[in-house]
Amino acid sequence: MRKKIVVGNWKMNLLKTQAESLANEVVNLLRHVDLSETKKVILSTPSLYLNKISELTGKEKFMFSCSQNIHHENSGAYTGEISAERIKSVGVSYTLVGHSERRAYFDETNELLAKKITTALSQNIVPIYCCGEQLEDRRLENHFSVILTQIEEGLFHLSSDEFKNIIIAYEPVWAIGTGETATSDQAQEMHAFIRSLIIEKYGNDIADDLTILYGGSCKPSNAEELFTCPDVDGGLIGGASLIAEDFVNIVKAL
Ligand code: PGA
Repeated sequence: MRKKIVVGNWKMNLLKTQAESLANEVVNLLRHVDLSETKKVILSTPSLYLNKISELTGKEKFMFSCSQNIHHENSGAYTGEISAERIKSVGVSYTLVGHSERRAYFDETNELLAKKITTALSQNIVPIYCCGEQLEDRRLENHFSVILTQIEEGLFHLSSDEFKNIIIAYEPVWAIGTGETATSDQAQEMHAFIRSLIIEKYGNDIADDLTILYGGSCKPSNAEELFTCPDVDGGLIGGASLIAEDFVNIVKAL
């Protein structure tokens, strides 16, 4: 069954005490929100805090912690890196893969991301695979072909059984951190396109169960309209996830 999910992406923000108090505040506010197996909340925190945040979310039935990145190998001589096997050992169950900031600033290619996806799945970590076009791609009306390539090269090596454990996040790069949100029509159009690709490759049932999140300046004032689109199954929230009340109001919009 398709799940509705809101993920908070804290990026490289917050000091330890701030991170803990934000997580506690979110947990407390969410006590009044009806979460369930099909309506979950995930906190994607700096890796330093994953251990602690996992302890907190672990006490909540429908809250989870998430890494912002993993290495494509499980272990070995990769100084400074973290891996799926290691985050699993501290209770993390999700990871972002291919966030546009990683693609842009750390030269992550679809080929590398395909390996990260496989490694995450090998440890039962659910990868949240991010895709999205640049503003220039949209101006030139190349946005569908950019997303097609990102999805094909990043995910289509997976078997049907593996693919069932994937989440996709569509994040138009021009909307990330800019205050400019995709309209609900633009979001729905791209989410429906992504789902159509999955139908073609993996069939109706798997495509129907797939959670596709929208990300890019999603906030309390526009979340409801975006989440009402039939193919938008929740959000990947950056800036607004740093304010407990805003984040929880976005969850309420699910
Ligand atoms: P934003 O970031 O909500 O601040 O636009 C979203 C993201 O980068 O995941």
